[in-house]
Amino acid sequence: MTQVLILNGPNLGRLGVREPEIYGHASMVDLEREAAAWGDALGLSVDVRQTDDESTLVGWLHEATDARAHVVLNPAAFTHYSYALRDAAAHVTTSGLLLVEVHLSNPAARESFRHYSVVAGIATGTVAGFGFDSYRLALEAVAHKLRG
Ligand code: DQA
Repeated sequence: MTQVLILNGPNLGRLGVREPEIYGHASMVDLEREAAAWGDALGLSVDVRQTDDESTLVGWLHEATDARAHVVLNPAAFTHYSYALRDAAAHVTTSGLLLVEVHLSNPAARESFRHYSVVAGIATGTVAGFGFDSYRLALEAVAHKLRG
């Protein structure tokens, strides 16, 4: 089965309690459950992970590249400044794999420091602003693209 790693960056482990007016009331455990169901429906094997650590996230992107797994990535604050993450994400897409950047909120409608993504330019595409549905739409985009 086609593998998709759903990777989440810093502070997303606090989903449900961190700024719920922006990020909603559901938790990372809820996302794991929902993503598994979406994956089942789409014929994708999904693995949801979260870390606050940049090097761990870089390592998971290398793992995806080596395992030929596609990636749905919410880089969280790393979106806006981590060239290390950007380079590891570029390694995924230049290896012929899909990488969809996702955001729960719409960073373009928030503070100016969130307007720029260092990842967007090397991603296959971006989905932002739809809460958990950003992840569902990203998985649907991966499944659709793989069907050709
Ligand atoms: C976020 C948006 C980022 O700007 C922010 O740093 C996050 C979450 C989102 O999902 O909306 O932590 O990636």
